[in-house]
Amino acid sequence: MASHHPTPDLSHLNYSHYRNVYEPAEDTFLFLDALEADLPLLKALDPAVCLEIGSGSGCVITFLATLLGRHSSLYLSTDVNSLAASATLETGFKNAVPIDTVLTDLTLAVRERLHQSVDVILFNPPYVVTPSEEVGSHSIEAAWAGGIDGRQVIDRALPLINEILSPRGFFYLVVIRENKPEELMAHMASTFTLKSEVVLSRKAGREGLSILRFQRK
Ligand SMILES: C[S@@+](CC[C@H](N)C(=O)[O-])C[C@H]1O[C@@H](n2cnc3c(N)ncnc32)[C@H](O)[C@@H]1O
Repeated sequence: MASHHPTPDLSHLNYSHYRNVYEPAEDTFLFLDALEADLPLLKALDPAVCLEIGSGSGCVITFLATLLGRHSSLYLSTDVNSLAASATLETGFKNAVPIDTVLTDLTLAVRERLHQSVDVILFNPPYVVTPSEEVGSHSIEAAWAGGIDGRQVIDRALPLINEILSPRGFFYLVVIRENKPEELMAHMASTFTLKSEVVLSRKAGREGLSILRFQRK
């Protein structure tokens, strides 16, 4: 499905940024398409607080903000990569979207303040299957290195996300087939009583990508 809402202006980012910060790719663009497909649901939700974990260039949270209207909500982002955090700030600025960016591991710096209060959580995680030792970098490798089944960062994030998701909130997650999405969805249902749906799937090269949406039962 083509995205009709304009992609954020990223013209301030160039090759030298993308040596250190994840460059928007098929997974990012599928995420934008899924958010656009969900616009009626998101409008009905009328979120007060939105958070992107691992915002990289800031393309996705900026897109959400322009999709929903810049001033209707508080837009927050986190990343472990300081250059990604500054790229997100710049992308917000370039697109006239106010984003509060926090340099932290997953949600750690904000988890207590945001307890059960985030209405939309976005996460395009490092999902690539890699040796475990590659997980945990704070530079560009953090963009993709997911360890065993590509699940090591995802699995650490799930309980933290459950803590901050508001009672009516939506949590969106990008996965590939190797992440065992069916098992992940069943785990979320049994452990956190979060039900889920596949919003969109697409094959991009060798990657079978899906965008999952979770919400409380
Ligand atoms: C696949 S990239 C996605 C970037 C951007 N959201 C997009 O869709 O284009 C994953 C991002 O997560 C960040 N990241 C990896 N591990 C993280 C962690 N433990 N806490 C916060 N961010 C993390 C990486 O630095 C990277 O920016």
